[in-house]
Amino acid sequence: MTSEDVTLMVDDSKLPQHIAIIMDGNGRWAKRRGLLRIAGHSRGIDSVRAVVTECARLKIGYLTLYAFSYENWQRPADEIEALMHLLTEYLIEEKQELLDNGIALGSIGDISRLPEHSQNALGDVAEMTRDMTGMKLNLALNYSGRQEILRAVQKITRVCSEGALDPSGIDESTFGAFLDTYGQPDPDLLIRTSGEMRVSNFLLWQIAYTEIYVTDVLWPDFREEELHRAIADYQKRTRKFGKVL
Ligand code: IPE
Ligand code: IPE
Ligand code: MG
Repeated sequence: MTSEDVTLMVDDSKLPQHIAIIMDGNGRWAKRRGLLRIAGHSRGIDSVRAVVTECARLKIGYLTLYAFSYENWQRPADEIEALMHLLTEYLIEEKQELLDNGIALGSIGDISRLPEHSQNALGDVAEMTRDMTGMKLNLALNYSGRQEILRAVQKITRVCSEGALDPSGIDESTFGAFLDTYGQPDPDLLIRTSGEMRVSNFLLWQIAYTEIYVTDVLWPDFREEELHRAIADYQKRTRKFGKVL
């Protein structure tokens, strides 16, 4: 199948509104080439650029990329430092491209633990792209679904103890409003590259009814054509949400 055939497989009238991606396999990509892991992360940034621009072109409303997990702090210090520098560089180099494509950048996760240069770059680009009305790009940084839920519980109990909220009135939508993804629809499609059949603490609350697509393709090799393949696969699914159709 040619790349043109794959593009034609995507039905523009049935696009997912929100795509979330677990960008995995940078280390394996590098290892297979006898390179350092960081070379895989660096090549992975090229995939981020390609996928972000293509999602915006397709008019996907929301794209959430798992860039660094809460558990990833357990990696070697030099890998973490290199990842944070790649993040900051990406943000600085990409801000014009984001503006040109109408993309608003934000983050989920507790970014207060990131190095200052990354926090500053995130703040700058978020501020510069705030009024963009095209796609919303969320970078998940120091992100953990369980931590996000715990933070929400802490905020809710505080609001309840101040008397501003009645605990018996907390429903799914009230709870969702205390999550980092507040105001955004749940992902329709979750893509994981590199073949691992797990969610690794990503968006635990939000993926209740998300369609999951796992590919063996490593993240640095995941480009427009692979994205189209994932969307086309999603478009063949029947979403039932527990009902009888
Ligand atoms: C994903 O690639 C990037 C991050 C988690 C930051 P990995 O670094 O996990 O790559 P593998 O899984 O070791 O191949
Ligand atoms: C998930 O990948 C986190 C990101 C992609 C940022 P990991 O490589 O950290 O996940 P595990 O350890 O294989 O579950
Ligand atoms: Mg991994």
